[in-house]
Amino acid sequence: MTKVGIIVGSTRKNSFSGMWAKAMAELYPAGTDVTFIDIANLPLYNQDYDENSPQEYTDFREQVAAQDGILFVTPEHNRSVPAALKNALDVASRPWGESVWGGKPALVASHSISGLSGFGANHHLRQSLAFLDMPTVQQPELYLANSQDYFDENGTLNNEDTKTFLQGAVDAHVNLIEKLTK
Ligand SMILES: Cc1cc2nc3c(=O)[nH]c(=O)nc-3n(C[C@H](O)[C@H](O)[C@H](O)COP(=O)(O)O)c2cc1C
Repeated sequence: MTKVGIIVGSTRKNSFSGMWAKAMAELYPAGTDVTFIDIANLPLYNQDYDENSPQEYTDFREQVAAQDGILFVTPEHNRSVPAALKNALDVASRPWGESVWGGKPALVASHSISGLSGFGANHHLRQSLAFLDMPTVQQPELYLANSQDYFDENGTLNNEDTKTFLQGAVDAHVNLIEKLTK
């Protein structure tokens, strides 16, 4: 069974990132084991912890290591990724030589509540993923603008065209995972 981990870059309750992530989680093929991996409880990365890691680090690294692929859904904070997401990338990349990200096919979605759609966050994230050796879906690119217009009061995606667009990206992710890891 293919295992896909979803990492949401926003740690706030009722985030639009979480809504986009939930909508995308439902688009993976039946039988895919989709897991939301929480990053909110990770202490701020400190290299001193490489010797004796907090339990939260160990649990997070194990959760990431268990996945075949990773979907990142992130907002943009000051034209980059939120600190919590960068922290999560750092935590699972260390100790040196023991990164658990390498080789895991990734899909990146960025969003914002304006027309900007998180382009800066999307590409800062891609820069880190290149170094972390994560083959990343290149097309379609997911720049999701004006998020507040896409969800009903229950946080459910209310736009069929957007669902179809997202399905294409999820299919590309599944194909990349199958090509590279199966
Ligand atoms: C610290 C901070 C920085 C932000 N910087 C940007 C930004 O650079 N570009 C942008 O489009 N929106 C920015 N925003 C607005 C976010 O798009 C908006 O808060 C969005 O709802 C965050 O996503 P979330 O709902 O998934 O938490 C920023 C918000 C915060 C709290």
